[in-house]
Amino acid sequence: MKDIVEALEKKRAEARLGGGSRRIEAQHAKGKLTARERIQVLLDEGSFEEWDMFVEHRSSEFGMAENRIPGDGVVTGWGTINGRVVYVFSKDFTVFGGSLSRAHAEKIVKVQKAAARNGAPVIGLFDAGGARIQEGVDSLAGYADIFMENVLASGVVPQISVIMGPCAGGDVYSPAMTDFIFMVKDTSYMYVTGPDVVKTVTNEIVSHEDLGGAKVHASRSGVVDGAFENDIETLTQMRRLITFLPQSNREKPPQLATFDDPERAEPSLDTLVPANPNTPYDMLELIQKVADEGDFFEIGKDFGRNILTGFGRMEGSTVGFVANQPMSLAGVLDIDASRKAARFVRFCDCFNIPICTFVDVPGFMPGTRQEYGGLIKHGAKLLFAYAEATVPKVTVITRKAYGGAYDVMSSKHLRGDVNFAWPTAEIAVMGAKGAVEIIFRAEAGDPVKLAERTKEYEDRFANPYVAASRGYIDDVIMPHNTRKRIVRALRTLKGKNVRNPEKKHDNIPL
Ligand code: HXC
Repeated sequence: MKDIVEALEKKRAEARLGGGSRRIEAQHAKGKLTARERIQVLLDEGSFEEWDMFVEHRSSEFGMAENRIPGDGVVTGWGTINGRVVYVFSKDFTVFGGSLSRAHAEKIVKVQKAAARNGAPVIGLFDAGGARIQEGVDSLAGYADIFMENVLASGVVPQISVIMGPCAGGDVYSPAMTDFIFMVKDTSYMYVTGPDVVKTVTNEIVSHEDLGGAKVHASRSGVVDGAFENDIETLTQMRRLITFLPQSNREKPPQLATFDDPERAEPSLDTLVPANPNTPYDMLELIQKVADEGDFFEIGKDFGRNILTGFGRMEGSTVGFVANQPMSLAGVLDIDASRKAARFVRFCDCFNIPICTFVDVPGFMPGTRQEYGGLIKHGAKLLFAYAEATVPKVTVITRKAYGGAYDVMSSKHLRGDVNFAWPTAEIAVMGAKGAVEIIFRAEAGDPVKLAERTKEYEDRFANPYVAASRGYIDDVIMPHNTRKRIVRALRTLKGKNVRNPEKKHDNIPL
C-alpha cells in the first residue's frame, strides 16, 4: 500500500512540474507566476481541488506521441474565495505554450459545465499560444465546445477572464463572451492575429503591445474592463470583484457586514455641484460618498470615461452604479459610453443586482464621427438595456438631464422605480442657450433680447420642479441626504417583482 501511495505522490509531483523547471524559470523571468501559483493567489489557502491532473493529449502527429505532459497545458478545478465556491482554469504556458488540444478543451468544458450546473462563477486565467498547431481541426472543435458553454452559461453564472500572458487566435473569443475581462499590464497581450500576420496582410508594422497590450484594450478598444500592474495585484483584485457578485442568477447578491451608518449624511455633497453649469465636478466623489465605506470596484475605468460604471454596496448588499462623469467630455453620451454602460446594466439585470444611476448628462455627442460610427444603434443599446432591466432602479439627477439622454438614463418612463433630483437639477430638452437660439431665431441679431430670453428659459426649465410637478421625479432631495434616501428606496424595492413579456429572447440593437 505504501508503494502505491508513494507512486501516486510521485505522479502528482511530476504533473505539478508542468513543462519542467527550465520553463518555469523562464516564466518567472518574464515576471509571471505559473498556472498553479496563480491559482494559489486567487483562491483561499488550501481550498483548491484539482481535476484532470493526469489528462494527456491523444495526438500522434509531428512526434506528439512521444511528447505527452500530464495536465496538457491547463490546470482546472475548483476552490473558494472567502469561503464561496468558484471554478477555475489556468492555462499553463510551460506546457506546449498553453496551447489548446482537444483534451485540454475537454478539461475546460468540464469545469464550465459544473459551474453552470452547481451555480458558481467561472474564472479563466489565460496565458497561451492559441490552437495546438499539431492537432489541427481537433483543436478548433475544442474551442467551439468552450464557446458553446460560454454562451449557455451567459447570464446563468458570472464568467470572468483574466489575460496574464499571450492570448491570441482561438483563445480570444472565449474571454470575449464572458462577463468581464481583465489584463496584466506589460506581460499580457490579446489579439485575433499577431504582428506577423498583420504585416503580411496589411503591411502595418506594429508591436505586440501596440496591437493588443493592456493599454490598448483598457482604454482604446474597450475589450477589457481593467488592467492591473502585475499577477498578484490582478488576482487580488479578482478576489475583491467576486465579493460583489452573486454565485448565479438564482441568487441575490451577497450580503456583507458593514459598519457604515445607512442614514449617514454627507454635508460636503451640498456644494459638489458648482454654481457655473459648465464647470465640471468629479462624479466619482458622489459614488464614493454614497456607497458603504466608499468602496467602489470600477469597471472600465479607462474606457468611455464620460460614464462611470462599477460595483459598490448599500447596507452591505451589492449595487451597480452608473453615473455620467462631467469631468470627461462634460458627461456626454457617446458610442463608447453607451456601449460600456449598456453592457454593465445588462450584467446587473442578469444577476439581480439593483442599479443606482447618477445623472448629469448634456445629451448625445454630436458629429460625423459619432453618426458614422453608429451612435444611433449604440445609444439605443443603453436605452434598451435600462428599459428591459427589471431589477430595482433608483435614479438621482444631480444637474443636467437634457433631451433623449434624460429618457435614457433610467428615467421614470423606462420603469425607474424611484427617481430623485437634487435642487440643482435641470431637466429640459436642451440647455437654455441652444434652446433660445432655435425658438427665437428671429431675434438672433439682438444680444440683449437673446440674453433676456435665455434667462426666461433658465428660470422656467433649469430646475427639477417641472418634472416633479408631473410626477416624473418622485422627490427633490437634499444632496447631503442622498445615501439615506437611496438606502430607504432600495429597502422598499427588496420585494420588487416585475417580469417582461414571455419571449424567446429580445433583439437588442447589437
Ligand atoms: C503548439 C505551441 C504553440 C501552439 C507556442 N507553442 N504556441 N505549441 N501550438 N499554438 C510552444 C512553442 O513551440 C514552445 O515550445 C513553447 O510553446 C513556448 O513558445 P515560444 O514561441 O518559445 O514562446 P514565446 O517566444 O514567448 O512566444 C509566445 C507566442 C508564440 C507569441 C504565443 O509561441 C506564438 O506565436 N505561438 C503561435 C501562436 C499561434 O499562431 N497560434 C495559433 C493561432 S490560430 P518549446 O517546446 O520550445 O518550449 C488559432 C485558431 C483557432 O488559434 C481559432 C478557433 C476559433
